[in-house]
This record gives sequence, structure tokens and C-alpha cells, in this order.
Amino acid sequence: IKRYDGFSDNLAVRLGSYQAPGPNDSRGPCPGLNTLANHGLINRDGKNLNSTEIKLAFPRGFGIAEDAIEVALHNWEVVCEYIKGTTCGTAANDGTFILTNLTILGEPHAFEHDHSYSRQDYRQNWAHGGITDNIYFNSSEMQSGLDVVGYTPSNPPKVATANFQQFNEIRLQRESIQNQRDFPGWFQQNVPPTLFETGFIFGATFDRDSSGKMKGSTPLARLDWWNFWFSEESFPTQLGWVPASTEVFNSHFCTSVSSAVLNAAVTSLPKSLPAGATATTFPPPANLPEGDPSPTLALFQSAPYAAATSPAAIK
Ligand code: HEM
Ligand code: MN
Repeated sequence: IKRYDGFSDNLAVRLGSYQAPGPNDSRGPCPGLNTLANHGLINRDGKNLNSTEIKLAFPRGFGIAEDAIEVALHNWEVVCEYIKGTTCGTAANDGTFILTNLTILGEPHAFEHDHSYSRQDYRQNWAHGGITDNIYFNSSEMQSGLDVVGYTPSNPPKVATANFQQFNEIRLQRESIQNQRDFPGWFQQNVPPTLFETGFIFGATFDRDSSGKMKGSTPLARLDWWNFWFSEESFPTQLGWVPASTEVFNSHFCTSVSSAVLNAAVTSLPKSLPAGATATTFPPPANLPEGDPSPTLALFQSAPYAAATSPAAIK
């Protein structure tokens, strides 16, 4: 079934309209899911999300083919079960499940991992015993990656892109920074999901024509689109973005990008890299283990990023 076919050619219809979340809406560490919720392609409150709807909403919003989100969907269910201590599947056990809300995906060291591109780690900055916001977009962390390639959102060049090598350099810089910044003993290097998410970034932002087909034979990530998507949690249509063509943005695309980024030779290495950071074998994206709930750490609790930073919320 090509579920991703048949969406309206009218982008305003296909992509819905952006509404910032309110303080009681739920958002999480995934810029993809947050964007879908902000556009009403999944429940705007970010709660009681059905896996069947997610499978439809990602292709509709981002143009991603369904086969590329299987691992993520599986891991979502596992995290849901960790937190609830019970199955998140339906009574009929027909393979669909309900995720309580987007915020629980921020359970640290479960699906959520350290050295994200745009989020802080759960214990960093020597917050003795305290916890840090590992869930919402953080412009300083994002900028530390953009700095590697000299990109400034406030004064952007007309079109700036990053290739595989540059993304590997950004990725290594993020590892190095967080390795130094985290509370001693906290940092865990988690390369496979980071690289898989890098595949998502390339799929969502590769330079393309107006029908979503890739320009050139190697994807180049548009930094203006990447920064807009992450910081606004909205589709960068005003910058000329359209959803990718699903023939391009599929599972094979994501894993090829993952290993190409990992294998791209870099010209220099940041200091204080954890051991193994430059290994070039890319293990296939791993399913989180099913079974006993992992010991859960308290979730970071606060209003969603856009709710907390929108002018109305700042008194
Ligand atoms: C990050 C969940 C699908 C884009 C994350 C994280 C979670 C998550 C838990 C946090 C990892 C971290 O600590 O950085 C999910 C689930 C999905 C899904 C449950 C499907 C059911 C997608 C898709 C895209 C996407 C299809 C792109 C279109 C990203 C990106 C990051 C991310 C780029 C990394 C953010 C960063 O490094 O700052 N996702 N995700 N996700 N997700 Fe998703
Ligand atoms: Mn993280």
C-alpha cells in the first residue's frame, strides 16, 4: 500500500497550518513529531497518539516513506511501556498502539540519548543531582553545530548547504562538547540513533526541486531549512521547502546517509572525543530491548518550547 500517495498537491491543505502549542499541550525531543503536532497532522495536544496516524502523518508532512519509520515506531512503543509499566498496544493486539504523550519520549538514556544536535543532555553543566532540559529545542546547542560550518541564522547566506563530511564534523563536535559538559559518569556515546537521525535530517532538508526531487546525485542538507524546522518546529515552506519525494526519502536513503556521514573523512578532530567516536562501521539502527521496564528517571517537566517562548507566554 502506498499510503503516502494521494495527498493534496495544495501544500496548505497537505501540511495544515501552524499553531504554537499552549502550556498544557505535550511536546517532546523529536522535532519531527513536534512539527506534526504543531500543524495538526497528529493531535495538536500531543497526547493519545495512535501509531496508525503517525504512519500516515510522517509521509504526509515530510514525504518520508513508511518503511523508514518502523524502528522509531518500535522504540516508541518500548519507551511507552517502560513508563507505563504495561503494554501500550491495543486490546486486540493488532499491532497498533497508543502513545500517552510526546513528552515521555524524553525519558533519558532510553530512546532519548546524549549529544543530540539541538538539545542539552539530562545531566550537564555540573548540575549536581539536578536535571537539565533534555527535551526542548536549545538554540545554543544547535548553534554549536552550525558554528562548525560557519552558518549564522541571523545573517544567512542565500543558500548554504552541508555535505556528509560537514555533518560528520558537526556530529563529532556535538559529541566532544557534551562529553566535556556532562556531569561525570553521565555521558553515554550513542552513535547509531544519532546517525539515523542524521539520515532523517538529510531526508527532510536535502536540496530539491519544486516537486521534492533531489538536486544533484548526492544529498546536500539545506542549513536554512534545517534551522527553521528545528527552531520553529514547523515546515520551512516560506524558504521554498516542499516535502521530499517518497521515492527518495525511504529507509534505504536514511541508512545510506548514516553510513556515508560516518565514513566521511574529516580534516580535523575536536578535542576530548570519547573513545570509538570515529569508528566507521554503522550498525543497523537497533531496536530497544523489549521486556522489563528500565528504571525510570524523573522526566524534565516544563511547558513546551514554543509555548514557553512565544510572546504571549512571556509576561
Ligand atoms: C530525535 C522519536 C520519527 C527526526 C528523536 C528523539 C526521539 C524521537 C525520542 C530524541 C533523541 C535525542 O535524544 O536526540 C521519534 C519517534 C518517531 C520519530 C517515536 C516515529 C514514530 C522521526 C522522523 C523524523 C525525525 C520520521 C524526520 C522526518 C528526528 C531528528 C531527531 C529526532 C532529526 C534528532 C534531534 C536532535 O538531534 O536534536 N526522535 N522520532 N524523527 N527525531 Fe524523531
Ligand atoms: Mn538527546
